[in-house]
Amino acid sequence: MTVPTTSPTTPPRALDALAAVIAEFNADRPLEASIATALEALRRSLDAQECSLWLHTADGFVRTWVAGDATAAELAVVAALGSGEETDGVRAVPVSSPDRRIGALALRLARPMLGDDATLLTAVANLLAPEIIHAERSRQLEVEVAARTAEIDRERRFTEKIIDSMPVGLYVIDREYRIQAWNRKRETGMQGVSRDEAIGRTIFDILHRQPFEMLRREFDEVFATGRIQEYQMESAASGDPRTYRITKIPMRLGDSAVTHVITIGEDVTDWREGHQRLSQAEKLAAIGTLAAGVMHEINNPLATIAACGDGLGYRLEDLQRRGAEVGKDLFDYLEIIDNEVLRCKQIVDQLLDFSRPKQLAKSPVDLNEVAEKTLFLMKHHGGFKKLTLVKELEPDLPPVPRGNAEQLVQVLMALIINATDAMGGHGTITLRTRSGPTPADGAIVEVTDTGHGIARAELSKIFEPFYTTKAPGTGTGLGLAICYGIVQDHRGRVEVDSVVGKGSTFRVLLPTIEW
Ligand SMILES: Nc1ncnc2c1ncn2[C@@H]1O[C@H](COP(=O)(O)OP(=O)(O)OP(=O)(O)O)[C@@H](O)[C@H]1O
Ligand SMILES: [Mg+2]
Repeated sequence: MTVPTTSPTTPPRALDALAAVIAEFNADRPLEASIATALEALRRSLDAQECSLWLHTADGFVRTWVAGDATAAELAVVAALGSGEETDGVRAVPVSSPDRRIGALALRLARPMLGDDATLLTAVANLLAPEIIHAERSRQLEVEVAARTAEIDRERRFTEKIIDSMPVGLYVIDREYRIQAWNRKRETGMQGVSRDEAIGRTIFDILHRQPFEMLRREFDEVFATGRIQEYQMESAASGDPRTYRITKIPMRLGDSAVTHVITIGEDVTDWREGHQRLSQAEKLAAIGTLAAGVMHEINNPLATIAACGDGLGYRLEDLQRRGAEVGKDLFDYLEIIDNEVLRCKQIVDQLLDFSRPKQLAKSPVDLNEVAEKTLFLMKHHGGFKKLTLVKELEPDLPPVPRGNAEQLVQVLMALIINATDAMGGHGTITLRTRSGPTPADGAIVEVTDTGHGIARAELSKIFEPFYTTKAPGTGTGLGLAICYGIVQDHRGRVEVDSVVGKGSTFRVLLPTIEW
Protein backbone atom coordinates (compact mmCIF):
# COMPACT_ATOMS: atom_id res chain seq x y z
CA MET A 1 0.00 0.00 0.00
CA THR A 2 1.43 3.40 -0.93
CA VAL A 3 0.59 6.41 1.12
CA PRO A 4 0.67 9.65 -0.82
CA THR A 5 2.78 12.32 0.74
CA THR A 6 1.31 15.67 1.61
CA SER A 7 3.07 18.98 1.81
CA PRO A 8 2.71 20.79 5.16
CA THR A 9 0.68 23.55 3.53
CA THR A 10 -1.97 21.32 2.00
CA PRO A 11 -4.58 19.72 4.28
CA PRO A 12 -4.16 15.94 4.82
CA ARG A 13 -5.91 13.82 2.30
CA ALA A 14 -8.61 11.37 3.09
CA LEU A 15 -6.24 8.47 2.86
CA ASP A 16 -3.82 10.01 5.37
CA ALA A 17 -6.68 10.63 7.70
CA LEU A 18 -7.94 7.06 7.42
CA ALA A 19 -4.46 5.59 7.69
CA ALA A 20 -4.10 7.52 10.95
CA VAL A 21 -7.43 6.12 12.17
CA ILE A 22 -6.43 2.57 11.46
CA ALA A 23 -2.92 3.00 12.79
CA GLU A 24 -4.33 4.30 16.03
CA PHE A 25 -6.38 1.18 16.66
CA ASN A 26 -4.02 -1.32 15.11
CA ALA A 27 -0.78 -0.23 16.67
CA ASP A 28 0.01 -3.77 17.75
CA ARG A 29 -1.61 -5.76 15.00
CA PRO A 30 -1.02 -6.19 11.26
CA LEU A 31 -3.71 -4.53 9.18
CA GLU A 32 -6.38 -6.77 7.89
CA ALA A 33 -6.24 -7.26 4.16
CA SER A 34 -9.77 -5.93 3.90
CA ILE A 35 -8.76 -2.68 5.58
CA ALA A 36 -5.93 -2.34 3.11
CA THR A 37 -8.34 -2.90 0.25
CA ALA A 38 -10.87 -0.49 1.65
CA LEU A 39 -8.22 2.14 2.14
CA GLU A 40 -6.90 1.65 -1.33
CA ALA A 41 -10.40 2.15 -2.72
CA LEU A 42 -10.94 5.17 -0.53
CA ARG A 43 -7.63 6.57 -1.66
CA ARG A 44 -8.58 6.24 -5.26
CA SER A 45 -11.93 7.79 -4.64
CA LEU A 46 -10.87 10.61 -2.34
CA ASP A 47 -7.34 11.29 -3.50
CA ALA A 48 -6.55 14.96 -3.81
CA GLN A 49 -9.82 15.85 -2.11
CA GLU A 50 -9.92 17.99 0.93
CA CYS A 51 -11.78 16.12 3.64
CA SER A 52 -12.41 15.86 7.34
CA LEU A 53 -13.19 12.75 9.31
CA TRP A 54 -14.57 12.39 12.84
CA LEU A 55 -15.31 9.55 15.09
CA HIS A 56 -17.90 10.43 17.65
CA THR A 57 -18.51 7.71 20.21
CA ALA A 58 -21.69 7.29 22.23
CA ASP A 59 -20.00 8.27 25.49
CA GLY A 60 -19.04 11.67 24.04
CA PHE A 61 -15.52 10.74 23.02
CA VAL A 62 -14.51 12.66 19.87
CA ARG A 63 -11.61 11.79 17.63
CA THR A 64 -10.76 14.08 14.73
CA TRP A 65 -8.50 13.18 11.86
CA VAL A 66 -8.32 16.44 9.98
CA ALA A 67 -6.01 19.35 9.69
CA GLY A 68 -7.00 21.16 12.85
CA ASP A 69 -9.79 20.30 15.29
CA ALA A 70 -13.40 20.17 14.33
CA THR A 71 -15.34 23.31 15.12
CA ALA A 72 -17.99 23.16 17.80
CA ALA A 73 -20.61 23.65 15.09
CA GLU A 74 -19.28 20.70 13.13
CA LEU A 75 -19.25 18.48 16.20
CA ALA A 76 -22.81 19.43 16.96
CA VAL A 77 -23.72 18.45 13.44
CA VAL A 78 -22.02 15.05 13.79
CA ALA A 79 -23.66 14.43 17.13
CA ALA A 80 -27.06 15.29 15.76
CA LEU A 81 -26.69 13.16 12.64
CA GLY A 82 -28.63 9.97 12.45
CA SER A 83 -27.38 6.98 10.65
CA GLY A 84 -26.74 7.53 6.98
CA GLU A 85 -27.94 11.14 7.09
CA GLU A 86 -26.15 13.95 5.44
CA THR A 87 -26.23 17.65 6.15
CA ASP A 88 -24.01 20.60 5.23
CA GLY A 89 -21.83 18.19 3.23
CA VAL A 90 -21.18 16.02 6.29
CA ARG A 91 -22.26 12.38 6.15
CA ALA A 92 -22.33 10.12 9.20
CA VAL A 93 -22.53 6.36 9.38
CA PRO A 94 -23.00 4.30 12.55
CA VAL A 95 -20.10 2.44 14.11
CA SER A 96 -21.68 -0.55 15.88
CA SER A 97 -20.76 -3.88 17.36
CA PRO A 98 -23.34 -6.70 17.25
CA ASP A 99 -24.62 -5.79 20.72
CA ARG A 100 -24.35 -2.01 20.90
CA ARG A 101 -23.88 1.20 19.06
CA ILE A 102 -20.42 2.59 19.58
CA GLY A 103 -20.82 5.92 17.85
CA ALA A 104 -20.71 7.53 14.43
CA LEU A 105 -18.04 8.06 11.81
CA ALA A 106 -18.54 11.30 9.94
CA LEU A 107 -16.95 12.50 6.70
CA ARG A 108 -16.99 15.87 5.05
CA LEU A 109 -15.73 16.37 1.53
CA ALA A 110 -15.11 19.53 -0.42
CA ARG A 111 -17.04 18.06 -3.37
CA PRO A 112 -20.50 16.59 -3.50
CA MET A 113 -20.74 13.17 -1.82
CA LEU A 114 -21.01 10.22 -4.23
CA GLY A 115 -22.63 6.85 -3.61
CA ASP A 116 -19.22 5.20 -3.54
CA ASP A 117 -18.07 7.55 -0.81
CA ALA A 118 -20.92 6.45 1.43
CA THR A 119 -20.25 2.75 0.75
CA LEU A 120 -16.61 3.23 1.59
CA LEU A 121 -17.38 5.17 4.70
CA THR A 122 -19.69 2.38 5.88
CA ALA A 123 -17.03 -0.25 5.09
CA VAL A 124 -14.45 1.66 7.11
CA ALA A 125 -16.94 2.17 9.98
CA ASN A 126 -17.57 -1.60 10.03
CA LEU A 127 -13.87 -2.33 10.14
CA LEU A 128 -13.35 0.28 12.80
CA ALA A 129 -15.98 -1.12 15.20
CA PRO A 130 -14.10 -4.24 16.36
CA GLU A 131 -10.94 -2.18 16.59
CA ILE A 132 -12.61 0.32 18.87
CA ILE A 133 -14.06 -2.50 20.99
CA HIS A 134 -10.62 -4.02 21.16
CA ALA A 135 -9.07 -0.70 22.10
CA GLU A 136 -11.72 -0.15 24.77
CA ARG A 137 -11.14 -3.62 26.17
CA SER A 138 -7.40 -3.02 26.19
CA ARG A 139 -7.94 0.21 28.07
CA GLN A 140 -10.24 -1.53 30.54
CA LEU A 141 -7.71 -4.31 30.97
CA GLU A 142 -4.95 -1.79 31.51
CA VAL A 143 -6.98 -0.12 34.26
CA GLU A 144 -7.74 -3.50 35.84
CA VAL A 145 -4.11 -4.60 35.63
CA ALA A 146 -2.99 -1.30 37.15
CA ALA A 147 -5.50 -1.68 40.01
CA ARG A 148 -4.51 -5.32 40.60
CA THR A 149 -0.82 -4.43 40.46
CA ALA A 150 -1.38 -1.67 43.00
CA GLU A 151 -3.24 -4.12 45.23
CA ILE A 152 -0.49 -6.75 44.95
CA ASP A 153 2.03 -4.03 45.63
CA ARG A 154 0.13 -3.00 48.73
CA GLU A 155 -0.10 -6.59 49.93
CA ARG A 156 3.60 -7.12 49.28
CA ARG A 157 4.52 -3.94 51.14
CA PHE A 158 2.28 -5.01 54.03
CA THR A 159 3.94 -8.43 54.26
CA GLU A 160 7.33 -6.78 54.00
CA LYS A 161 6.40 -4.39 56.81
CA ILE A 162 5.41 -7.32 58.99
CA ILE A 163 8.68 -9.17 58.52
CA ASP A 164 10.64 -5.91 58.81
CA SER A 165 8.96 -5.03 62.10
CA MET A 166 9.94 -8.30 63.74
CA PRO A 167 12.83 -7.98 66.18
CA VAL A 168 14.47 -11.05 64.62
CA GLY A 169 16.66 -11.57 61.57
CA LEU A 170 14.74 -13.37 58.84
CA TYR A 171 15.59 -14.59 55.37
CA VAL A 172 14.16 -17.08 52.89
CA ILE A 173 16.06 -19.20 50.39
CA ASP A 174 14.83 -21.36 47.52
CA ARG A 175 16.04 -24.79 46.43
CA GLU A 176 18.99 -23.22 44.61
CA TYR A 177 19.96 -21.61 47.94
CA ARG A 178 19.14 -18.21 46.42
CA ILE A 179 17.91 -15.56 48.80
CA GLN A 180 14.28 -14.60 48.09
CA ALA A 181 13.54 -12.48 51.16
CA TRP A 182 15.80 -10.55 53.52
CA ASN A 183 14.34 -8.47 56.34
CA ARG A 184 15.36 -5.12 57.82
CA LYS A 185 17.00 -6.65 60.91
CA ARG A 186 19.41 -8.51 58.64
CA GLU A 187 20.41 -5.20 57.07
CA THR A 188 21.47 -3.68 60.37
CA GLY A 189 24.41 -4.26 62.70
CA MET A 190 28.05 -4.83 61.93
CA GLN A 191 27.26 -7.95 59.89
CA GLY A 192 24.34 -6.29 58.11
CA VAL A 193 23.94 -6.77 54.36
CA SER A 194 21.53 -4.61 52.37
CA ARG A 195 18.47 -6.25 50.87
CA ASP A 196 19.42 -5.18 47.35
CA GLU A 197 22.78 -6.84 47.76
CA ALA A 198 21.36 -10.06 49.21
CA ILE A 199 18.28 -10.82 47.10
CA GLY A 200 19.01 -13.18 44.22
CA ARG A 201 22.45 -14.23 45.46
CA THR A 202 23.16 -17.56 47.10
CA ILE A 203 23.27 -17.72 50.87
CA PHE A 204 26.86 -19.00 50.67
CA ASP A 205 27.93 -15.78 48.91
CA ILE A 206 26.40 -13.66 51.65
CA LEU A 207 27.16 -15.71 54.77
CA HIS A 208 30.66 -16.45 53.57
CA ARG A 209 32.06 -16.41 57.10
CA GLN A 210 30.10 -19.53 57.99
CA PRO A 211 31.51 -22.90 56.92
CA PHE A 212 29.97 -23.74 53.54
CA GLU A 213 29.57 -27.48 54.17
CA MET A 214 27.85 -27.00 57.51
CA LEU A 215 25.46 -24.36 56.21
CA ARG A 216 24.54 -26.48 53.23
CA ARG A 217 23.98 -29.56 55.37
CA GLU A 218 21.62 -27.62 57.62
CA PHE A 219 19.50 -26.43 54.70
CA ASP A 220 19.56 -29.81 52.95
CA GLU A 221 18.25 -31.44 56.07
CA VAL A 222 15.23 -29.14 56.17
CA PHE A 223 14.60 -29.61 52.42
CA ALA A 224 14.86 -33.38 52.81
CA THR A 225 12.96 -33.96 56.05
CA GLY A 226 10.50 -31.06 55.96
CA ARG A 227 11.02 -30.66 59.70
CA ILE A 228 11.80 -27.51 61.66
CA GLN A 229 15.40 -27.34 62.88
CA GLU A 230 16.35 -25.34 65.91
CA TYR A 231 19.72 -24.73 67.55
CA GLN A 232 21.68 -22.11 69.43
CA MET A 233 24.91 -20.52 68.33
CA GLU A 234 27.36 -18.12 69.83
CA SER A 235 28.66 -15.24 67.78
CA ALA A 236 30.93 -12.35 68.63
CA ALA A 237 30.62 -10.89 65.13
CA SER A 238 28.89 -7.72 66.33
CA GLY A 239 31.30 -7.00 69.21
CA ASP A 240 30.27 -8.71 72.45
CA PRO A 241 29.61 -12.42 72.45
CA ARG A 242 25.89 -12.98 71.87
CA THR A 243 23.75 -16.10 71.84
CA TYR A 244 21.36 -16.63 68.92
CA ARG A 245 18.55 -19.10 68.55
CA ILE A 246 18.41 -20.16 64.90
CA THR A 247 15.22 -21.70 63.58
CA LYS A 248 14.97 -23.11 60.06
CA ILE A 249 11.37 -23.57 58.93
CA PRO A 250 10.33 -25.51 55.80
CA MET A 251 7.94 -23.71 53.44
CA ARG A 252 5.88 -25.30 50.64
CA LEU A 253 4.50 -23.25 47.76
CA GLY A 254 2.56 -26.25 46.45
CA ASP A 255 1.21 -29.25 48.33
CA SER A 256 4.18 -31.55 48.46
CA ALA A 257 7.89 -30.78 48.32
CA VAL A 258 9.59 -28.12 50.41
CA THR A 259 10.32 -25.24 48.05
CA HIS A 260 11.85 -22.71 50.44
CA VAL A 261 13.45 -22.53 53.86
CA ILE A 262 12.74 -19.63 56.20
CA THR A 263 15.57 -18.90 58.65
CA ILE A 264 14.94 -16.87 61.77
CA GLY A 265 17.79 -15.70 64.00
CA GLU A 266 16.82 -14.38 67.42
CA ASP A 267 19.17 -12.80 69.92
CA VAL A 268 18.43 -14.74 73.12
CA THR A 269 21.43 -13.55 75.15
CA ASP A 270 19.30 -11.69 77.72
CA TRP A 271 16.77 -14.49 77.94
CA ARG A 272 19.51 -17.06 78.43
CA GLU A 273 21.25 -14.98 81.06
CA GLY A 274 17.95 -14.55 82.89
CA HIS A 275 17.34 -18.24 82.67
CA GLN A 276 20.82 -19.01 83.95
CA ARG A 277 20.37 -16.51 86.75
CA LEU A 278 17.19 -18.22 87.76
CA SER A 279 18.68 -21.70 87.81
CA GLN A 280 21.71 -20.29 89.60
CA ALA A 281 19.41 -18.75 92.21
CA GLU A 282 17.59 -22.06 92.65
CA LYS A 283 20.89 -23.90 92.99
CA LEU A 284 22.18 -21.46 95.56
CA ALA A 285 18.94 -21.66 97.52
CA ALA A 286 19.24 -25.46 97.59
CA ILE A 287 22.89 -25.23 98.71
CA GLY A 288 21.84 -22.72 101.36
CA THR A 289 19.17 -25.00 102.80
CA LEU A 290 21.59 -27.92 102.80
CA ALA A 291 24.35 -25.85 104.38
CA ALA A 292 22.02 -24.56 107.08
CA GLY A 293 21.13 -28.13 108.07
CA VAL A 294 24.74 -29.34 108.05
CA MET A 295 26.02 -26.31 109.90
CA HIS A 296 23.45 -26.78 112.61
CA GLU A 297 24.71 -30.34 113.07
CA ILE A 298 28.34 -29.22 113.09
CA ASN A 299 27.79 -26.47 115.66
CA ASN A 300 27.17 -28.93 118.49
CA PRO A 301 30.27 -31.13 117.97
CA LEU A 302 32.31 -27.94 117.57
CA ALA A 303 31.06 -26.69 120.93
CA THR A 304 31.94 -30.09 122.45
CA ILE A 305 35.46 -30.01 120.95
CA ALA A 306 35.95 -26.44 122.23
CA ALA A 307 34.76 -27.44 125.72
CA CYS A 308 36.98 -30.56 125.75
CA GLY A 309 39.95 -28.43 124.64
CA ASP A 310 39.28 -26.00 127.46
CA GLY A 311 38.92 -28.91 129.93
CA LEU A 312 42.22 -30.43 128.76
CA GLY A 313 43.91 -27.05 129.15
CA TYR A 314 42.74 -26.72 132.77
CA ARG A 315 43.88 -30.26 133.53
CA LEU A 316 47.33 -29.66 132.07
CA GLU A 317 47.72 -26.41 134.04
CA ASP A 318 46.61 -28.29 137.15
CA LEU A 319 49.16 -31.05 136.56
CA GLN A 320 51.84 -28.42 135.97
CA ARG A 321 50.95 -26.70 139.25
CA ARG A 322 51.38 -30.00 141.02
CA GLY A 323 54.93 -30.25 139.68
CA ALA A 324 54.35 -32.65 136.85
CA GLU A 325 56.39 -32.27 133.69
CA VAL A 326 54.06 -31.04 130.91
CA GLY A 327 55.69 -30.51 127.50
CA LYS A 328 55.17 -27.12 125.82
CA ASP A 329 54.10 -28.91 122.66
CA LEU A 330 50.91 -30.08 124.46
CA PHE A 331 49.90 -26.45 125.04
CA ASP A 332 50.75 -25.68 121.39
CA TYR A 333 48.44 -28.48 120.25
CA LEU A 334 45.67 -27.16 122.44
CA GLU A 335 46.12 -23.68 120.98
CA ILE A 336 45.91 -25.11 117.47
CA ILE A 337 42.70 -26.93 118.39
CA ASP A 338 41.31 -23.72 119.84
CA ASN A 339 42.19 -21.64 116.76
CA GLU A 340 40.88 -24.19 114.31
CA VAL A 341 37.62 -24.56 116.22
CA LEU A 342 37.29 -20.79 116.13
CA ARG A 343 37.92 -20.78 112.36
CA CYS A 344 35.30 -23.49 111.85
CA LYS A 345 32.88 -21.49 113.95
CA GLN A 346 33.44 -18.40 111.81
CA ILE A 347 32.88 -20.39 108.64
CA VAL A 348 29.70 -21.86 110.07
CA ASP A 349 28.49 -18.39 111.04
CA GLN A 350 29.31 -17.02 107.60
CA LEU A 351 27.59 -19.88 105.88
CA LEU A 352 24.53 -19.37 108.01
CA ASP A 353 24.67 -15.70 106.98
CA PHE A 354 24.55 -16.81 103.38
CA SER A 355 21.77 -19.34 103.74
CA ARG A 356 19.68 -17.34 106.18
CA PRO A 357 20.93 -13.75 106.19
CA LYS A 358 20.02 -12.29 109.51
CA GLN A 359 16.73 -10.49 109.10
CA LEU A 360 18.16 -7.26 110.36
CA ALA A 361 16.14 -4.09 110.74
CA LYS A 362 15.76 -2.20 107.50
CA SER A 363 15.57 1.54 107.09
CA PRO A 364 16.25 4.04 104.25
CA VAL A 365 19.86 3.75 103.12
CA ASP A 366 21.94 6.12 101.04
CA LEU A 367 24.30 4.03 98.91
CA ASN A 368 26.75 6.94 98.67
CA GLU A 369 27.14 6.86 102.46
CA VAL A 370 27.59 3.08 102.30
CA ALA A 371 30.35 3.58 99.72
CA GLU A 372 32.12 6.24 101.81
CA LYS A 373 31.94 4.13 104.96
CA THR A 374 33.36 1.11 103.12
CA LEU A 375 36.27 3.14 101.75
CA PHE A 376 36.98 4.47 105.24
CA LEU A 377 37.15 0.93 106.62
CA MET A 378 39.27 -0.24 103.69
CA LYS A 379 41.91 2.40 104.41
CA HIS A 380 43.69 -0.01 106.68
CA HIS A 381 43.71 -2.92 104.26
CA GLY A 382 47.30 -3.51 103.14
CA GLY A 383 46.82 -4.38 99.46
CA PHE A 384 44.20 -1.69 98.86
CA LYS A 385 46.49 1.20 99.80
CA LYS A 386 48.79 0.63 96.80
CA LEU A 387 46.00 0.80 94.23
CA THR A 388 44.56 3.77 92.36
CA LEU A 389 41.02 4.52 93.47
CA VAL A 390 38.50 6.30 91.28
CA LYS A 391 35.33 7.38 93.03
CA GLU A 392 32.29 8.33 90.95
CA LEU A 393 29.32 8.86 93.22
CA GLU A 394 26.13 10.25 91.73
CA PRO A 395 24.99 13.15 93.91
CA ASP A 396 21.24 12.69 93.24
CA LEU A 397 21.16 8.97 93.90
CA PRO A 398 17.72 7.89 95.12
CA PRO A 399 17.75 6.25 98.56
CA VAL A 400 17.08 2.54 99.06
CA PRO A 401 13.95 2.68 101.24
CA ARG A 402 14.44 -0.70 102.91
CA GLY A 403 18.06 -1.54 103.54
CA ASN A 404 20.61 -2.40 106.15
CA ALA A 405 23.64 -0.17 105.84
CA GLU A 406 25.92 -2.47 107.81
CA GLN A 407 25.18 -5.47 105.62
CA LEU A 408 25.59 -3.40 102.47
CA VAL A 409 28.99 -2.21 103.72
CA GLN A 410 29.87 -5.89 104.20
CA VAL A 411 28.86 -6.54 100.56
CA LEU A 412 30.94 -3.67 99.17
CA MET A 413 33.88 -4.64 101.32
CA ALA A 414 33.82 -8.22 100.01
CA LEU A 415 33.67 -6.92 96.42
CA ILE A 416 36.52 -4.45 96.94
CA ILE A 417 38.70 -7.08 98.64
CA ASN A 418 38.09 -9.45 95.72
CA ALA A 419 38.97 -6.66 93.27
CA THR A 420 42.15 -5.94 95.25
CA ASP A 421 43.10 -9.63 95.20
CA ALA A 422 42.46 -9.82 91.44
CA MET A 423 44.98 -7.07 90.69
CA GLY A 424 48.00 -8.38 92.54
CA GLY A 425 49.19 -5.06 93.89
CA HIS A 426 48.69 -2.58 91.06
CA GLY A 427 45.78 -1.32 89.01
CA THR A 428 42.67 0.81 89.37
CA ILE A 429 39.49 0.23 91.30
CA THR A 430 36.50 2.32 90.32
CA LEU A 431 33.69 2.63 92.81
CA ARG A 432 30.64 4.06 91.14
CA THR A 433 27.05 4.74 92.19
CA ARG A 434 24.29 5.69 89.78
CA SER A 435 20.56 5.57 89.47
CA GLY A 436 19.11 2.68 87.51
CA PRO A 437 16.67 2.54 84.61
CA THR A 438 13.63 1.31 86.58
CA PRO A 439 12.53 1.52 90.23
CA ALA A 440 13.16 -2.24 90.52
CA ASP A 441 16.84 -1.54 89.75
CA GLY A 442 16.67 2.03 91.03
CA ALA A 443 20.04 2.38 92.78
CA ILE A 444 23.22 0.79 91.49
CA VAL A 445 26.66 0.46 93.00
CA GLU A 446 29.53 -0.91 90.92
CA VAL A 447 33.04 -2.05 91.69
CA THR A 448 35.26 -2.21 88.61
CA ASP A 449 38.80 -3.52 88.65
CA THR A 450 41.58 -3.89 86.11
CA GLY A 451 42.49 -7.35 87.37
CA HIS A 452 42.87 -10.77 85.76
CA GLY A 453 39.17 -11.20 85.07
CA ILE A 454 37.02 -14.32 85.24
CA ALA A 455 36.69 -16.93 82.50
CA ARG A 456 33.17 -17.39 81.13
CA ALA A 457 33.00 -20.96 82.36
CA GLU A 458 33.83 -19.84 85.92
CA LEU A 459 31.25 -17.08 86.05
CA SER A 460 28.43 -19.42 86.96
CA LYS A 461 30.36 -20.83 89.92
CA ILE A 462 31.73 -17.79 91.73
CA PHE A 463 28.62 -17.29 93.89
CA GLU A 464 28.68 -20.87 95.11
CA PRO A 465 29.83 -21.27 98.71
CA PHE A 466 33.42 -22.53 98.95
CA TYR A 467 34.22 -21.82 95.33
CA THR A 468 37.61 -20.16 95.41
CA THR A 469 40.65 -19.95 93.17
CA LYS A 470 42.77 -18.54 95.96
CA ALA A 471 45.54 -20.46 97.67
CA PRO A 472 44.44 -22.60 100.64
CA GLY A 473 44.20 -20.49 103.74
CA THR A 474 43.78 -17.20 101.83
CA GLY A 475 40.17 -17.55 100.73
CA THR A 476 37.24 -19.61 101.91
CA GLY A 477 35.08 -18.91 98.86
CA LEU A 478 32.29 -17.53 101.02
CA GLY A 479 32.65 -13.79 100.23
CA LEU A 480 30.43 -13.69 97.15
CA ALA A 481 28.03 -16.31 98.51
CA ILE A 482 27.36 -14.04 101.47
CA CYS A 483 27.04 -10.96 99.23
CA TYR A 484 24.53 -12.88 97.17
CA GLY A 485 22.48 -13.79 100.25
CA ILE A 486 22.45 -10.22 101.58
CA VAL A 487 21.53 -8.64 98.23
CA GLN A 488 18.83 -11.25 97.75
CA ASP A 489 17.49 -10.33 101.17
CA HIS A 490 17.29 -6.70 99.93
CA ARG A 491 15.26 -7.87 96.87
CA GLY A 492 18.15 -6.81 94.67
CA ARG A 493 20.52 -8.67 92.37
CA VAL A 494 24.20 -8.88 91.52
CA GLU A 495 25.53 -8.75 87.95
CA VAL A 496 29.04 -9.46 86.74
CA ASP A 497 30.78 -8.37 83.53
CA SER A 498 34.26 -9.70 83.10
CA VAL A 499 36.88 -9.94 80.38
CA VAL A 500 39.83 -12.22 81.03
CA GLY A 501 43.04 -10.20 81.22
CA LYS A 502 41.18 -6.87 81.33
CA GLY A 503 39.14 -6.80 84.50
CA SER A 504 35.72 -7.23 86.05
CA THR A 505 32.74 -5.19 87.13
CA PHE A 506 30.51 -6.38 89.96
CA ARG A 507 27.22 -4.51 89.99
CA VAL A 508 24.70 -4.50 92.83
CA LEU A 509 21.24 -3.34 91.77
CA LEU A 510 18.79 -2.48 94.51
CA PRO A 511 15.12 -1.48 94.36
CA THR A 512 14.17 2.09 95.22
CA ILE A 513 10.53 1.20 95.84
CA GLU A 514 8.98 0.01 99.08
CA TRP A 515 8.43 -3.74 99.24
N1 LIG B 1 37.02 -9.08 91.08
C1 LIG B 1 37.35 -10.34 90.78
N2 LIG B 1 38.22 -10.59 89.77
C2 LIG B 1 38.55 -11.86 89.45
N3 LIG B 1 38.06 -12.95 90.09
C3 LIG B 1 37.18 -12.75 91.07
C4 LIG B 1 36.78 -11.45 91.48
N4 LIG B 1 35.88 -11.58 92.47
C5 LIG B 1 35.75 -12.90 92.70
N5 LIG B 1 36.53 -13.61 91.88
C6 LIG B 1 36.65 -15.07 91.81
O1 LIG B 1 35.56 -15.64 92.51
C7 LIG B 1 36.04 -16.51 93.52
C8 LIG B 1 35.07 -16.51 94.65
O2 LIG B 1 35.07 -15.26 95.30
P1 LIG B 1 34.62 -15.17 96.81
O3 LIG B 1 34.71 -13.78 97.25
O4 LIG B 1 33.30 -15.85 96.94
O5 LIG B 1 35.66 -16.08 97.52
P2 LIG B 1 37.20 -15.78 97.80
O6 LIG B 1 37.48 -14.35 97.57
O7 LIG B 1 37.97 -16.76 97.03
O8 LIG B 1 37.29 -16.13 99.32
P3 LIG B 1 36.69 -15.27 100.54
O9 LIG B 1 35.98 -14.10 99.96
O10 LIG B 1 35.77 -16.19 101.23
O11 LIG B 1 37.85 -14.89 101.35
C9 LIG B 1 37.39 -16.00 93.81
O12 LIG B 1 38.23 -17.01 94.36
C10 LIG B 1 37.90 -15.56 92.46
O13 LIG B 1 38.33 -16.66 91.70
MG1 LIG C 1 36.28 -12.90 98.44
